[in-house]
Amino acid sequence: MFFITPYAEQHPLRKGVKRLADNTYRPGLEGIIATETSLSYLDVEHEQIVIRGYDLIELTTKVDYLRVAYLLVSGHLPSSEEYQTFIRQLNEFQSIPPEIYNIMGSLGKHVHLMDSLRTALSALATFDPSLDRRDADTTWRQSLMLLATMPGIVANSYHIKNHEPIIEPDPQLSYSANFLKMITGRVPDEIETRAFDQLLTVYIEHEMPNSTFSAIVIASTLSDMYGALVGAVASLKGTLHGGANEAVMKMLLEMKTPEQVEPYLMAKLARKERIMGFGHRVYMKKADPRAMLMKESLKQLVAIKGHADLYDMCVKGEEVMQREKGLFPNLDYYAAPVYYLLDVPVDLYTPIFFAARTAGLVAHVREQYEHNRLFRPRVLYTGPRGLHP
Ligand SMILES: CC(C)(COP(=O)(O)OP(=O)(O)OC[C@H]1O[C@@H](n2cnc3c(N)ncnc32)[C@H](O)[C@@H]1OP(=O)(O)O)[C@@H](O)C(=O)NCCC(=O)NCCS
Repeated sequence: MFFITPYAEQHPLRKGVKRLADNTYRPGLEGIIATETSLSYLDVEHEQIVIRGYDLIELTTKVDYLRVAYLLVSGHLPSSEEYQTFIRQLNEFQSIPPEIYNIMGSLGKHVHLMDSLRTALSALATFDPSLDRRDADTTWRQSLMLLATMPGIVANSYHIKNHEPIIEPDPQLSYSANFLKMITGRVPDEIETRAFDQLLTVYIEHEMPNSTFSAIVIASTLSDMYGALVGAVASLKGTLHGGANEAVMKMLLEMKTPEQVEPYLMAKLARKERIMGFGHRVYMKKADPRAMLMKESLKQLVAIKGHADLYDMCVKGEEVMQREKGLFPNLDYYAAPVYYLLDVPVDLYTPIFFAARTAGLVAHVREQYEHNRLFRPRVLYTGPRGLHP
């Protein structure tokens, strides 16, 4: 039987198109369960992000990024011995072939740093002698390689673009302190290191966003882990996904003062524009617990570093969006000003999100290899039939 589905009525391009009735079709796969995973789950009802059985917010406040990365990739929190071994192994993998930096340096002058990262990851694959192997030992080693090299690739993409000298990693520093130092060129203090570490941890894993889905779809053809992550970079770059944090900061800088927030947002809403940093496909009408933790982190940083206006602007924006649209801020809304107070250049906000998400991505790719089933969905065909050349 043919009839027009509710979706056909919603979209102007779909008006009048007759399709086969199929209740399983959801544009954007909204609400569709695409895979099984033991890695993470968004329990929206209880406002909890479950990471291998733990609450992400509790993990973020009690343990560091690397321990959560280990948890994701290996399945359990590391013992102190496992943790020390993990750090040692990461340090061994830290150095980046100079050819990678040369390739990054040869890109066009308008390069977006996500494109620089995408190119670097693609090139890094060509240095891996076990690129074609999918066994657990190989993918564990590849995960370490990706986690270890990510700070150098991301931080130096900025320095290369700006014709500044490459900053080499400092193995004496913790993962997060070293990462931040490679970005800013100075050793961060304890408070900055903790804030940055928390920022990385809240970004580490988030169930099945577009980038993770892209990665597992690629891995499901038994393509390699680097390729899966290259696809994920391209996905995460978009402003409806990871690119929102940069867009939020640009918006805050344009608004300048707390007094400007309301008129600025109202004008944008009147033009039916989207306000970056608000809304979420899964949370919809509930707060993103990660955003609330970053709000707290911002408050603490502001108390030490000043810029109280920035905090007031964010709170005002939250009030306006709640009142006008009933929308809550997502993580990117409060992550952006935290990056700002840590002296991170705006161009690096999205690449750092990706670097933090690497642990979740490699864990998903390994899981996909373990119980692989090729992704190959079908379509609702809306084109003509019976034409002849
Ligand atoms: C994240 C996002 C893409 C989710 O989108 P989605 O699940 O497809 O939700 P929809 O686009 O169907 O939006 C539902 C309604 O909320 C509105 N809405 C959602 N996010 C909005 C935003 N940021 N600003 C203004 N309105 C928004 C939509 O206009 C729509 O309203 P309508 O029903 O009156 O047309 C969307 O909220 C968005 O664009 N946010 C801004 C980008 C962002 O911050 N991305 C980071 C996500 S972590």
